[in-house]
Amino acid sequence: MVALTEVKASNALINDATAPRVAVFVSGTAGIGKLTLKALVETGASTRIYLVGRKSAEERTRAFIDELHAINARAEVIWTEAEVSLLAETKRVCGLIKSKEPRVDLLFLTTGYAPFGKRTETAEGVEVAQSLEYYTRVLFIQHLLPVLRQAEAPRVISVLAGGMESTWVDLDDIDLKRPGNFWGGKAQLQYGTMNSVGLDKLAQLNSDVTFIHSSPGWVSTGNVLRGRDAGSITDWLMWLVLEPLVRLFSMTDDASAQRNLFQCTSASFGGRGVPWTGKPGVNTRGNKAAGVFLAKYTCDSVENAKTMAALREKAQQKIWDHTQEMLRPYL
Ligand SMILES: NC(=O)c1ccc[n+]([C@@H]2O[C@H](COP(=O)([O-])OP(=O)(O)OC[C@H]3O[C@@H](n4cnc5c(N)ncnc54)[C@H](OP(=O)(O)O)[C@@H]3O)[C@@H](O)[C@H]2O)c1
Repeated sequence: MVALTEVKASNALINDATAPRVAVFVSGTAGIGKLTLKALVETGASTRIYLVGRKSAEERTRAFIDELHAINARAEVIWTEAEVSLLAETKRVCGLIKSKEPRVDLLFLTTGYAPFGKRTETAEGVEVAQSLEYYTRVLFIQHLLPVLRQAEAPRVISVLAGGMESTWVDLDDIDLKRPGNFWGGKAQLQYGTMNSVGLDKLAQLNSDVTFIHSSPGWVSTGNVLRGRDAGSITDWLMWLVLEPLVRLFSMTDDASAQRNLFQCTSASFGGRGVPWTGKPGVNTRGNKAAGVFLAKYTCDSVENAKTMAALREKAQQKIWDHTQEMLRPYL
């Protein structure tokens, strides 16, 4: 475990040279995205941040942005509205960002929730949590890769379940559409595994970009209650048991913010960024170069080598082909 004091010492070294010059947060309107974005602004560094969020979050987020500008006038935070559960909207907003920015240094992805309610689809026919936690995330990456590649040390972080991937991923019903095949635990495992497999593929195709699929640990953001069916037994269990447990055993907001900021900036992951003299992270290929890192909330990386090798052999091509088929109309 990287001690919080070491994390903070590293973050104290963030300056104009090491902070991302341009960052895109999807979405920084709540939870870990919001905490991390604020920690980045609090470094005092000069940075421009596109804070992407849906219309319903605009009012409170504009107040948050005013607060950020008072903290650090050298940080420009730009409210960027998009209905980020939708693929068409993802394409539109990426086009907007690319029209303004020739380079993007950091893409930080946190949308989604624990899918413990019934299966619900977006207007585009994709299960909502799967769209937020996988498809739109991959689409953001694919659209922004040309500008990410213009950065000196481009980095993409997808916050979900890095290191928890499993060979139990369902390849016959990737989107869990068959009757009875969608339930909370299964969907979480499916979407988490798809993240690792998808990022591993993207890392193969883009060896100059550092990808991190992170597992944030327990952070008391109210996330577990977002995807519930009000009044159901699961809902009561989540409210009575899981949410209080998360509240009790969560790390503090500050620890979460600092640990995620470390993952955004430290050379521990791929060798570029704030210099790191501790144990370096190891990617899913077993080396220290850029690639995909499965980062735990402790800021250590896990290889999960056996599972990743099995997934590469048996699942990756099928998942990637299916992903590209889903995304093709929006690429
Ligand atoms: N917190 C934890 O303990 C924990 C643990 C493991 C994994 N995770 C996963 O890590 C990620 C980040 O967690 P978090 O705690 O930061 O989550 P959070 O506080 O619930 O924030 C999630 C973000 O997703 C957006 N979002 C949710 N539903 C949406 C929808 N239907 N359409 C558009 N945007 C939507 C929210 O936007 P609005 O502000 O507009 O609602 C918010 O910005 C999530 O995928 C979560 O499942 C969290």
